[in-house]
Amino acid sequence: MSGEVNPDMALKWVTVGFLCTGCFWFLVSSEKLWQKLEQEHSRLCPWECMIFVQMWPGSFCVSLTSKLDCILTKNAKNWTIHGLWPNDIKECCPYWQLFPSDLTNLVSELNSHWPTFTNLTSFQFWEKEWKKHGTCAGCMETLNSPNKFFGAALFLRTKYNIDRAFERAAIVPSCTWSYQLHTFADILRPLLGPQYELQCVTDGQQGRQILVQIKVSLFGNFSTGCFPGTSMDISPYQPCKAQRRIFYVPPNLKNPRNPCP
Ligand SMILES: *[C@@H]1O[C@H](CO)[C@@H](O)[C@H](O)[C@H]1NC(C)=O
Ligand SMILES: *[C@@H]1O[C@H](CO)[C@@H](O)[C@H](O)[C@H]1NC(C)=O
Ligand SMILES: *[C@@H]1O[C@H](CO)[C@@H](O)[C@H](O)[C@H]1NC(C)=O
Repeated sequence: MSGEVNPDMALKWVTVGFLCTGCFWFLVSSEKLWQKLEQEHSRLCPWECMIFVQMWPGSFCVSLTSKLDCILTKNAKNWTIHGLWPNDIKECCPYWQLFPSDLTNLVSELNSHWPTFTNLTSFQFWEKEWKKHGTCAGCMETLNSPNKFFGAALFLRTKYNIDRAFERAAIVPSCTWSYQLHTFADILRPLLGPQYELQCVTDGQQGRQILVQIKVSLFGNFSTGCFPGTSMDISPYQPCKAQRRIFYVPPNLKNPRNPCP
């Protein structure tokens, strides 16, 4: 029998071989198809950059509307999260509600790092941020639930840690000492990359320029450098100007609207 090929068996093996090759190509091409779908899907986000915004509690109340009470707590000693904002888009899904149960495992971290300093409750503040910004982030798999969205912001606060950067550079809050914009820029650029913005408010009586927020523009994968373009900002927070010195004021728990009288 040796040397002889059973034609039936040969046909079977050819068939099996054929099917397996088909199978292989099917797997390879479906993998490719999948990657293509994933790429196309990631392009479905109507935004490219998102802005991670951290706030300095010491000056937050300087321009706070009188419609809200300002209540600084002990968390006011550190930079806090204001929000994570997909660029140039708002309120993407008004029916996507945030529930307290979405945040159970994050609530204590959120309370320390994303507190409200007004008489809105923390949850009301988070709910506003979710409705306005979070619902627009859900086109990214890494941000497609409240838990992922709020968790990402907490992660970003650790990654782009302003407290630590300032501490290392001996930048301390003061009512008398002020800084030049380039001093902040030298410290922040290595941490935040080229696309970031320092925002200032002007205090009423003395007209001082006061640091209030730091925005960093990120790609969907959370790395820095995304160019957000220019957009009109009508808030009292404006880009800090290099021509004038910048005050970094200590939180004044008794007089938060006028921390350095
Ligand atoms: C917050 O305080 C302001 C000013 O005192 C008041 O008018 C407003 O009703 C309060 N809002 C809430 C949600 O408690
Ligand atoms: C606040 O910032 C200081 C300075 O970096 C740091 O030592 C401290 O751990 C921070 N506190 C919190 C609650 O993150
Ligand atoms: C993040 O995304 C940007 C833009 O797509 C890309 O240039 C960059 O290499 C990515 N970074 C990492 C760490 O994957």
